[in-house]
Amino acid sequence: MHDRSMLRNYVGSHWPSYLAAILLIITSNITQALLPRVVGQFTDELPQLTLTMDKIIHYSLQLLLIAVSFNVLFGLGQFMIMRLGRRFEYITRQKLFGKFSELSEKYFAKQGTGKLLSYVMNDVTSVREAISNGINQTTNAVFLLLSCIVMMMIDGIPLSLIAIGVGPLLAIPFLVVYFGPRIRERSRNVQEALASMTESAEEQLGGIRVTKTFAAEDIAESRFGTKVDSIRDNQLRLVRLSSLFQALLPLLGAVSLVVSIVVGGYMTIHNIISLGSFVALTLYLRMIMGPLQQIGNVINMMQRSSASLDRVNSLLGEIPDVKEAPGAVMLNKVEDITIQNLSFRYPGSKEYALQDINLVIPSGKTIGVVGRTGSGKSTLVKLLLRVYDPPANTITISGIDVLKLTLESLRSKLSYVPQDGFLFSTTIKDNIAFSNREASLSEVEAPAKQAMIFDKIIQFPKRFDTPLGERGITLSGGQRQRTSLARGLMKKAPVLILDDSMSAVDAVTETGILNSLKKERKNKTTLIISHRISAVKHADLIIVLEEGRIVEQGSHRQLMSRGGQYASLARIQEEGLNHGV
Ligand SMILES: Nc1ncnc2c1ncn2[C@@H]1O[C@H](COP(=O)(O)OP(=O)(O)OP(=O)(O)O)[C@@H](O)[C@H]1O
Ligand SMILES: [Mg+2]
Repeated sequence: MHDRSMLRNYVGSHWPSYLAAILLIITSNITQALLPRVVGQFTDELPQLTLTMDKIIHYSLQLLLIAVSFNVLFGLGQFMIMRLGRRFEYITRQKLFGKFSELSEKYFAKQGTGKLLSYVMNDVTSVREAISNGINQTTNAVFLLLSCIVMMMIDGIPLSLIAIGVGPLLAIPFLVVYFGPRIRERSRNVQEALASMTESAEEQLGGIRVTKTFAAEDIAESRFGTKVDSIRDNQLRLVRLSSLFQALLPLLGAVSLVVSIVVGGYMTIHNIISLGSFVALTLYLRMIMGPLQQIGNVINMMQRSSASLDRVNSLLGEIPDVKEAPGAVMLNKVEDITIQNLSFRYPGSKEYALQDINLVIPSGKTIGVVGRTGSGKSTLVKLLLRVYDPPANTITISGIDVLKLTLESLRSKLSYVPQDGFLFSTTIKDNIAFSNREASLSEVEAPAKQAMIFDKIIQFPKRFDTPLGERGITLSGGQRQRTSLARGLMKKAPVLILDDSMSAVDAVTETGILNSLKKERKNKTTLIISHRISAVKHADLIIVLEEGRIVEQGSHRQLMSRGGQYASLARIQEEGLNHGV
């Protein structure tokens, strides 16, 4: 029913260590079970007045030795198991992270990052605790129980008495069967409420600027409050049930002790068992109560983590939407990019984002793409980069369908500067040199100059080593764009794609950047997407998109003389400039 292979594989490949740890714990249990026996023997000698000082010292030393050996053995075993658990946690987090890089944009758009973070943090920890404590406590409980029963028999305690003492404890499995699934259900609600809160907190933090400027703090707070309330309610429901469950276990232990005292006391008075055996029996039963509670806890914990394990497993089993075709080939040289009869709908969407696109992007040319917001400009690029897969045989590069190319070779040949140039919380240099972390400073300086951000960077005290983001400085929108543009230029890829990468820079800077681009990208394929005519004017071919269709194409001159949409857009922007807007 549940896929447990990830766990089995891990435990399976580390079995010698697990076995050693388990053996240590078993030895510690046997040692511990000797304790009531020694106390029993000591008690038997008391009424006979055969005790000497030597014997007292002998007994105390025995008890001390048992206590020390038990603690050392048990501690060692527990340490080994905990360490194995941490390793499991580490490996699983790495696997999950690896999976995240494999999964497509569609998956993240659907899942939300808060939920995924919760998988990596809470669920993995919960599974780790369950295997570590599970193995540790199950071994401990089972073998302590067995050792105690064997010792009681060796001590000559009649089986009937043992059965009476242990009998009430047999109700435990029934309790577990009853409580287990109910606890599991409530635990899942808690986990889901937590994930939803993390998601909401992340969203609130991300959107804090918007919230503030709209003075919408109250709304944001009340929304968040609802999530917190739901966590509390769910948690209380879980705690009520699991507390009841955990309280019933010691109660059964107490009943067993009472019954044994009645029957055992009777047997002692009638000399069926010795006083020492009676004392040992009560000690054994006390000792057994601990492990029984542990069994309850372990089952409880297993139930709790089982939901986590299912989630982690299902995420690891997620098949990426965009994956390499079997026998995918390398893209060695980028020649013409041909788009034929391309129509595309986003998964789950009814509307076509692109329709009947036919276009050849000749090698070495500069192509401009203009169009209103939502007209499909970014979608075209996402299909080219296989952020989403286009239909078969609609986009080919050097005559090969992009679906048949290895993702690595495709993406290494295309350099993409996205619309919302994301910068990492690291230094400016590392952000620009993202495609080549070993790059020297001078290699990073050139693209920074081309993107017209160099002068700004050298004004910072730490220059290229200035950290960005949470622990560093915050760049303005335009500066961020130019830094992200420098990152795209740094890659020196055969194809450069700028998705509205200059929207937040002023006209003068834009002209500067375009001039350096013209030099740098001479005879290299460049795709410039923009709202502004000024950014695409110089392109060899300009296409105008409207509601997912190409409505006009040609050079700037051709399109202007045509007097269509492009020309009217140019006129509006020209007027805007003249009026100083
Ligand atoms: N991940 C997505 N899932 C579903 N629909 C999407 C997705 N991304 C974009 N769309 C839709 O596809 C259409 C084209 O979007 P696209 O991002 O390509 O527009 P654009 O031309 O780049 O606009 P802009 O100039 O504002 O960046 C829009 O109607 C948009 O709502
Ligand atoms: Mg866009």
